[in-house]
Amino acid sequence: MRSDFDLANRSLEAPLLLTSALATRKSIATILAQQDSGDATPSLARTLSAFSLVCIGVGATIGAGIFVLTGTAAAQFAGPGLAFSFVLAGFASGLVCYAELAAMIPAPGSTYTYTYATLGSLAAWIIGWDLVLEFAMAAATVAVGWSGYAQSLAADFGLRLPALLAAAPGSGGIVNLPAAAITLGLTLLLMRGARDAALSNAILVALKIAIILAFVLVGALHVKPELWSPLVPPNQGSFGAFGWSGILRGAGVVFFAYIGFETVSCAVAETRDPQRDAPIGLIGALIVSTILYVAVAAVLTGLVPYQLLNVPDPIAKAVDALGLGGFSLIIKLGALVGLTTSCLTALYGQGRIFYAMARDRLLPEVFARLDPATRVPRFGQGTIGLLTAAVAAFVPIDILGELVSIGTLFAFILVCSAVLILRRTEPERARPFRVPGGSLLPVLGILGCLALMAGLPGDTWIRLMVWLSLGFAIFFGYGRRRLTAMPAEPA
Ligand code: ALA
Repeated sequence: MRSDFDLANRSLEAPLLLTSALATRKSIATILAQQDSGDATPSLARTLSAFSLVCIGVGATIGAGIFVLTGTAAAQFAGPGLAFSFVLAGFASGLVCYAELAAMIPAPGSTYTYTYATLGSLAAWIIGWDLVLEFAMAAATVAVGWSGYAQSLAADFGLRLPALLAAAPGSGGIVNLPAAAITLGLTLLLMRGARDAALSNAILVALKIAIILAFVLVGALHVKPELWSPLVPPNQGSFGAFGWSGILRGAGVVFFAYIGFETVSCAVAETRDPQRDAPIGLIGALIVSTILYVAVAAVLTGLVPYQLLNVPDPIAKAVDALGLGGFSLIIKLGALVGLTTSCLTALYGQGRIFYAMARDRLLPEVFARLDPATRVPRFGQGTIGLLTAAVAAFVPIDILGELVSIGTLFAFILVCSAVLILRRTEPERARPFRVPGGSLLPVLGILGCLALMAGLPGDTWIRLMVWLSLGFAIFFGYGRRRLTAMPAEPA
């Protein structure tokens, strides 16, 4: 017969088991051993170089942020001070200490993996769920921007899609066919292997940079300096409507332009020399993107009065102001290329994050299954492509942009925190790259991201809370059972 003591023990056992599973951290040693093991689960192929990483970072970042959102940010919030908004957003992103973590933990999964190592499995799940905003939802948002530019370019040649096939329900159509088509096409490319995708990406990135530089150089010869005065238009009485609060609000909007450089840290596990390549890739991509953004913002607001920039294709509008007919076509092509690489890399990053989560049993194992020939998680990549294409095709996307930004800022705060925590918990571990200045930069990074989050509207905060609550619900319905069934990691 069982004693009362046994029964009490049994009723305590399950919650205790669960609590310990939720708080379980995965040591860096385990993460690295899993990465390098040549066991039943072969690791991802190591085919990328530092140059590929910079291209992945630049490919991921320069897209809808610069080609679509700059106009709104200048016209509604920052005026000619838009360049300051880009500097502020770039500064907040630059302070995020990915380089230290990516060089120290060259494993797939990026923020998800760093969070598992510092805050445990529940926090890791939530951040993995949050990263769906940063990657899959960003890819869907960018695909819709791509569809807009593609249709505008086609219209220049007299080709028009029936309205019902050109936009999602709620935006005047029943399906956004071009957005779904580009998402699926890029998914097929990714399923062929990381090397093919990286090569295509590098070629497209070169083309995109050449076109942006052409805009900056030609535009610089025609700017009207009087349009830059006053550089920061006076505030109109409410927070964010011009003045310095407008610069902050504008930074929150154009922060979207910096989303994606984290993809570099997803790719680090596929480089030949991760410790050396990770800092080069991350810092290089951030510097190139920031310089181009600031230059484009300055030229754009020097060509067109900022009040007229509230359009979905502000750069094409500025080129029209130059009166150089054919150049506008080239700019639209540049925008299409930019949006293509941004969508491609976001889909790629999502595939690698789901791969890492499935290896930890937080998603079905099939997401971690690698194709024997290409060593790509083909099933996961294909499923992500289908789901993202469905979102791009059927969801009106205008609310998603700011949700993507706030979700990314939340992830960035965890990355800065992970740097501080790991310096305490694993002080002896080799850090091939160390963010200088002790704790100062990670702390400033957290404050910078919080400031940008504060600049975003209350509705966006509510949507983030709803999204994260959904993540908790899924975890307690699905993930925790698999976690408690997992063998404990040796101490
Ligand atoms: N940063 C990426 C873009 O602007 C998401 O398209």
